[in-house]
Amino acid sequence: MLNRGVQEELLERGYSRRQLGRVAALLGTGAAVASGAAPAFGQSQAAKAVAGAIQIGANECWTGPFPAGQAAAAKIVAQGNRYDPDGEREKLIKTVAMVEKLPESHILAWPGSGDPLVRTVISFCSPTKGLVTPDPTFEAAWRAAAWLGAPLAKVPMAQGKGADVKAMLAANPNAGLYYICSPNNPTGTVTPLADIEWLAANKPADAVLLVDEAYLHFSEAPSAAYLAATRKDVIVMRTFSKLFGMAGMRLGLTFSDPALQQRMMRYDGFQVTGTLPMTAVACGAAAYTQTADIKARRAEMVATREATIAWLTKRGVKVLPGSEGNMFMVDWQKPAKEVQAALLANGVQIGRSWAIWPTVGRVTVGSADEMKAFCVAVDKVLTA
Ligand SMILES: Cc1ncc(COP(=O)(O)O)c(C=O)c1O
Repeated sequence: MLNRGVQEELLERGYSRRQLGRVAALLGTGAAVASGAAPAFGQSQAAKAVAGAIQIGANECWTGPFPAGQAAAAKIVAQGNRYDPDGEREKLIKTVAMVEKLPESHILAWPGSGDPLVRTVISFCSPTKGLVTPDPTFEAAWRAAAWLGAPLAKVPMAQGKGADVKAMLAANPNAGLYYICSPNNPTGTVTPLADIEWLAANKPADAVLLVDEAYLHFSEAPSAAYLAATRKDVIVMRTFSKLFGMAGMRLGLTFSDPALQQRMMRYDGFQVTGTLPMTAVACGAAAYTQTADIKARRAEMVATREATIAWLTKRGVKVLPGSEGNMFMVDWQKPAKEVQAALLANGVQIGRSWAIWPTVGRVTVGSADEMKAFCVAVDKVLTA
């Protein structure tokens, strides 16, 4: 049940009484789904991994956590009887604050970033306050907006570019939430900080800007984190699922003004952020300061990505320009779903495509060996 104060606020924000029931059901169980809204919340957004296939479809890292992170996680297993054996959560927050130069009060840790992403939509959008995103982008926010009945404006991206922030504002000058993923999933393109700042300064004062930096460590792009400290209406989000190789361990971060955190916590938030798996917390805290490992892993990914793109280009395959992430997009010049299926039949599982560009599919950068196997499979599929 939603308490009376929350009900009143939601009614003021434009919800009908029937929609309040749906919100309560979603927040209570995490599993309620409006008819027709699929896939269900609670299901993995990544396509199911096909056993035995080379996994370059879900933007995971090709390898696991750094040695320092693995050692810290292994060490804490013996103290698994304690919720938080030695202030581990606090150590993580202090470490992140030091690295990001943010006040501790502005940092929250989550079990991955999927929860705060969807939670942000639910907290700041409503049937009268829409969501604006580029297209293509990570779709989780779209599904949350559809579930809420919040208007959704998808603003086409130019190939090779970041988000068109002016077009985003024009698409809905009265939205509740503007979402920018930079580097963007699936294009890997970066939205310049100057554009992000412009949107923060020009959006309506009561709207929130969410900057999803899931792939930031794979690029050398500067972070928007400072905006979370200098403004009261910007949330910057990170995950340990990508470069840190911790997708299955579940750890993410948000940076924002504490008042925004409160607005995201009107339902069970402190349960979610207060009691995280200590293995993930200890691993994340130890990994966050491993700057040499971060740099080396980024360099390895960039070298593999560029070698793969060079091979594809030489083979006459069109790769979209501008990726700074651990993924790139290929224009197969025919339905991307067909190529995805043909590659899977050859033991390589690549990523999905987006409706806006049906001939274009996403490929995650795996290890050098995995990408060589991918090239062999591409050659076979295109020759057939
Ligand atoms: C852009 C973006 N944001 C958020 C997420 C959520 O990831 P996680 O919940 O593992 O942190 C993903 C996962 O692929 C993503 O691509």
